[in-house]
Amino acid sequence: MSELKWPFLPGRNISIDRAEGIYLYTDNGQEIIDAAGGAIVACIGHGNDRVVEAIAKATKQTSYIVPPWITPSRQAMLDALADWLPPSLTRVHCTSGGSESNEAAIKIALHYQQAIGETSRTQVIGRSISYHGTTLATASISGHPSRKIGLEASLPNFLEVETPYTLRCPVSANQGDYYVDLLAHLIEAEGAENVAALLSEPITGSSGGALVPPDDYWPKVRKLCDDNGILLIMDEVMTGYGRTGQDFGFQHWPIEPDILVGGKGLAGGYAPLGGVFAREAIGEAIEQAGFQVMFNTFGAHPAACAAAAEVLNIMREDNLVQQAATRGDYLSNRLRDLFSNHPHVAETRGKGLLQAIEVVADRETLEQFPKDAQISSKIVVKGLQKGVFFYGGGTGVVRDIVCMGPPLTIDEPALDRIAETLLECVDEAIAEA
Ligand SMILES: Cc1ncc(COP(=O)(O)O)c(C=O)c1O
Repeated sequence: MSELKWPFLPGRNISIDRAEGIYLYTDNGQEIIDAAGGAIVACIGHGNDRVVEAIAKATKQTSYIVPPWITPSRQAMLDALADWLPPSLTRVHCTSGGSESNEAAIKIALHYQQAIGETSRTQVIGRSISYHGTTLATASISGHPSRKIGLEASLPNFLEVETPYTLRCPVSANQGDYYVDLLAHLIEAEGAENVAALLSEPITGSSGGALVPPDDYWPKVRKLCDDNGILLIMDEVMTGYGRTGQDFGFQHWPIEPDILVGGKGLAGGYAPLGGVFAREAIGEAIEQAGFQVMFNTFGAHPAACAAAAEVLNIMREDNLVQQAATRGDYLSNRLRDLFSNHPHVAETRGKGLLQAIEVVADRETLEQFPKDAQISSKIVVKGLQKGVFFYGGGTGVVRDIVCMGPPLTIDEPALDRIAETLLECVDEAIAEA
């Protein structure tokens, strides 16, 4: 046996031998429903032969080719993407994941402002509950305090505005205006002429537990950005590619981003891939200014592009986005049935097959359990023992969140099992708190 330590920091050590459809199988034969889709990644389920064959073919055909050149699998991915992306987003830059893509998106936004002569626009706004990645810049702009501890002195500076969190909003009426006004005030205080972009998740993923903003929020934010020359970057790493019952999360509102960031479901978990998609004018300006958009060595890897092309086509052929909407409604209703009168569940929320619950000590005051009660970790551990993998969420400040993001192929009996198991796990975790 090797003496090498894996993972870097010791954690729960589970050994998975194989995965098929919505199921994971441990080395001792336990079957686990992957209600987390891995890290909310596995959109078409595991073990799809078509994807495996497409990857094998691309690997044989063009094992490694520098990212800017075209290959058959890159072309196949672009052809498939054309059916997903809004027509306004014509420029494509691929990386190996969400962090690199968000980092690249921030740089592209900053480059664009410099390229069009808006040289004072060097600030980027992030939001208070969010996760954008592991690099110094993406960790810094994330509203995820527990992932910054020990790094504070070395993080680059970004501006921060509140993420809509209607459950704990200080006002009960006009909540959309409340959050939009905070953004307007921040822009005014900093000077619009100094702000390059806003980076945000359309529906806040696991950091907030599927936080859906008030309906008027995004249209008003879009207008505010337009009025002030600020680019809107949508991080759809978790919400993109059908997860929320639309191709992309932003499509729940009548808006479009200037830059869209994808990852996770883009290649369905079969290969590492992230993407940055920008408006033509952005690419054109950067090109004319002669700035570089440097590739990552493994960006747009031919095998990953083959996986993405096949996954995107399968999702279309099998109508999986529509299915995410209907099965998402089913799961959401089941959660509501089971938890709407639960004394320790403040809310069930989400869109499509991105759903979450927030556990509280007191449903009336929304008081949290003490941090060391570790409610969501306990729920995840209990879930695994009972054969369901839930995804723990929160930021350290926002906590006791449990997320669900199963493959979009999941059926209703499996969703029943997820919801019922979650209830058992919540009750058992609270009994121990
Ligand atoms: C919304 C969002 N953005 C970015 C990331 C980072 O992506 P990656 O882990 O692929 O670098 C994640 C990962 O969970 C995410 O949920």
